[in-house]
Amino acid sequence: MSGISGVKEQDLIRQYGSPLFVYDEHELRQKLQAFTSCFRSETFATRVLYASKAFSCKAMISLAAEYGCGLDVVSGGELYTALRTGFDPSRIWFHGNNKTPAEIRMALDAKVGTFVVDNEMEAEEILAQIKDRDTETDVLLRINPGIEAHTHQYIVTAHVDSKFGFSLLEKDVIFDTAEKLQDSGKVRVRGIHAHIGSQIFDKQAYVELIRKMFSFAKELHDRGIAVTDINLGGGFGAYYTPEDHPVPVKEVCETILQTCEEENERVGGFIRQILIEPGRSIVAEAGYTLYTVGYLKQTPNKTYAFVDGGMSDNIRPALYQAKYEAYLAGKENLPAETDYTIAGKCCESGDILIESIPLPKAEKGDILVMKTTGAYGYSMASHYNKLPLPAVVFVNEGRARTVIERESYEHMTELELQEGKS
Ligand SMILES: Cc1ncc(COP(=O)(O)O)c(C=O)c1O
Repeated sequence: MSGISGVKEQDLIRQYGSPLFVYDEHELRQKLQAFTSCFRSETFATRVLYASKAFSCKAMISLAAEYGCGLDVVSGGELYTALRTGFDPSRIWFHGNNKTPAEIRMALDAKVGTFVVDNEMEAEEILAQIKDRDTETDVLLRINPGIEAHTHQYIVTAHVDSKFGFSLLEKDVIFDTAEKLQDSGKVRVRGIHAHIGSQIFDKQAYVELIRKMFSFAKELHDRGIAVTDINLGGGFGAYYTPEDHPVPVKEVCETILQTCEEENERVGGFIRQILIEPGRSIVAEAGYTLYTVGYLKQTPNKTYAFVDGGMSDNIRPALYQAKYEAYLAGKENLPAETDYTIAGKCCESGDILIESIPLPKAEKGDILVMKTTGAYGYSMASHYNKLPLPAVVFVNEGRARTVIERESYEHMTELELQEGKS
């Protein structure tokens, strides 16, 4: 099938404008289905929480709900989006290293199911707020297990300086916090959580993580904290370029669950529920960004193709040197002629989307399609240079629908008060 899920890129641009985020809805559904059907166990209750930071909007959250996922949110804004979508609050896990008092109040008011408590002061804030309420809540404690995994490598470190979670090197702090929460009678300490990185291609990183998590869960259990849940976070890899070799969903789920079963036996069988939080691996490959090529520029060493978006809709190349594949719509079958540098239109020399990519001859008006832009693209977008955010469209079996409208200049300036107000 040519185009994106049967719709030609040129038609999408004609109808919805440029630049444009496009998601292949069929692919999104396949990923959600793969995770929810493969992450099943006879020993444990299991839950797949969609990490909405990867791409949060009402249509995406509805899809996640349709497949029975829970939801990871990390701010009042993500929580608000979920609640406005009608997402069941009891299936929301609220993360974040600095949840503000107002965000905690909002989550308690909404009866969010679980707080993932990141530090001692947050635990105290929750206790202070819940004290006079006729309500209870569940929490997980976020642990920093000293494993960092990124792409091809993972390292086991005594990394004490992370901004996230309780370090395993300070177990007394964790024990004290867990006891304080439990003794309140208002908070159930369900278990522990960790997230060790992103683009993890080595299953062994999860095996190491699981061993550490079960060992520590046993220590909590032995001190009378009734932990039953282990949440292993996200980080499952996606394909961007041939350098990437993501582990198939089925395989990584099997490894995780099998290791959890072995570990649960080892520690005495008190763990009842295992959770994972995939974000990128659900939405990245389903997403495309369509740009219109504007001017071309030859320098002594480079041939630039300029596009009508850039770091404002995809900060990842500038921020992480992330690499992407791309093609010129309608020219897929022509031989590559030139190595192009794809540059955005932002006022920043670092606004390069692709450093070098062989393409057929590019011309003004061509549509350049960047692949695998579905995760941390729209969700990290900015208004730098006052570029309005593009529209987002879902396509499925030849039909397209707008799920986020294109911003207008009016939208961008409507909160600005020229004279100010007091
Ligand atoms: C706590 C937590 N869970 C899940 C995720 C999702 O990770 P990924 O999109 O790599 O699957 C993140 C990403 O930062 C995270 O911080």
